[in-house]
Amino acid sequence: MSDVKVVDLIKKFDKVLAVNGVSIDIKSGDFVVLLGPSGCGKTTTLRCIAGLESPDSGEIYIEDRLVNDLPPKDRDVAMVFQNYALYPHMTAFDNIAFPLKMRKVPKDEIERRVKEVAKLLNIEHLLSRKPRQLSGGEQQRVALGRALVRKPKVFLMDEPLSNLDAKLRIFMRAELKRLQKELKVTTVYVTHDQAEAMAMADKIAVMNNGKLLQYDEPSAIYHRPASIFVAAFLGSPPMNMIKTSMSRKNGDLVLDAGAFMYKLPKEIGDLVSNQASSSEVYLGVRPEDLLVSVEKSPNSVFSAEVYVVEPQGPNLVLDLRVGDQIIKALTPLTLDVKLGQQVWVGFDLKKAHIFDGRTEATLY
Ligand SMILES: Nc1ncnc2c1ncn2[C@@H]1O[C@H](COP(=O)(O)OP(=O)(O)O)[C@@H](O)[C@H]1O
Ligand SMILES: [Mg+2]
Repeated sequence: MSDVKVVDLIKKFDKVLAVNGVSIDIKSGDFVVLLGPSGCGKTTTLRCIAGLESPDSGEIYIEDRLVNDLPPKDRDVAMVFQNYALYPHMTAFDNIAFPLKMRKVPKDEIERRVKEVAKLLNIEHLLSRKPRQLSGGEQQRVALGRALVRKPKVFLMDEPLSNLDAKLRIFMRAELKRLQKELKVTTVYVTHDQAEAMAMADKIAVMNNGKLLQYDEPSAIYHRPASIFVAAFLGSPPMNMIKTSMSRKNGDLVLDAGAFMYKLPKEIGDLVSNQASSSEVYLGVRPEDLLVSVEKSPNSVFSAEVYVVEPQGPNLVLDLRVGDQIIKALTPLTLDVKLGQQVWVGFDLKKAHIFDGRTEATLY
């Protein structure tokens, strides 16, 4: 069963096409993340699901019921915002109790449900405090409590962790994921942070310019991106995109990167040349899939000069100069290299990608 279904959603603000034909089907109990850069239409999509914006066209279903004409309070969704939107003059208890009071739930039941939620969120000791007496993380828990207390069908969360410092954000994202799995409440979560999306999501919907580009499990989005945009948006450091020009040499398809040539095996060459819209293609390889060695090996594809060495915990990020391009490679800390040194670089084509330079679509 699908809990939330969005069909061909279009939403304009004057001339701005904020959401441009988004369709998305969210399974019951799933944690779905809408991911994309600022201004790509994530919040607008979420607000249309909540009923806070009305679509120009398209349909929104919650539990198979068309809700386009239903006001937010009748949709059985709860929204958590980036700025928490707590009532400053109310205690944490009253903030959490508020949605129940509005629904005229009996007083003893309110008491019971607020305490239950506070226990779940580990904020029982904070219930008598006002928001200004709480840290950012505690305020966020209260805001979550207020959303949870109603036991909604669907949670809608708009960058709920973005006001927290980096350490607390990483702690809270694990807590939130755990909580969502315990409660099994279908959740739509907006973020521009790819690491957060990868860590939390059952499925990621990557958006750009109001459009949904790819909707799949995190590992599929990461390992089988549908376009240059998706490939480059996920991963840190991002995937290297090496610009090449494709041509036939003695029947073989060869990618010419200027600084090196790379011959494609016949099947892959045919696949690429049959789909490509021009000779300009990009070879995409993630930093962790580049194999750097000091000596030339049978796997070596090109040589490069070490331009910057950035230690990063257990790894080194090497900036390598290849012709007029800088690419990044992730290598073990044990690789002993110096600035200016020539190194050899190889990769396994199975882990590499080839993209159309004009349409930006994945060819391989
Ligand atoms: N109320 C509004 N009035 C006018 N333009 C808006 C409004 N809300 C959003 N937009 C525009 O719609 C686009 C998508 O915005 P939004 O959904 O907030 O993006 P995101 O949440 O991905 O950053 C942006 O260009 C934004 O400026
Ligand atoms: Mg937003």
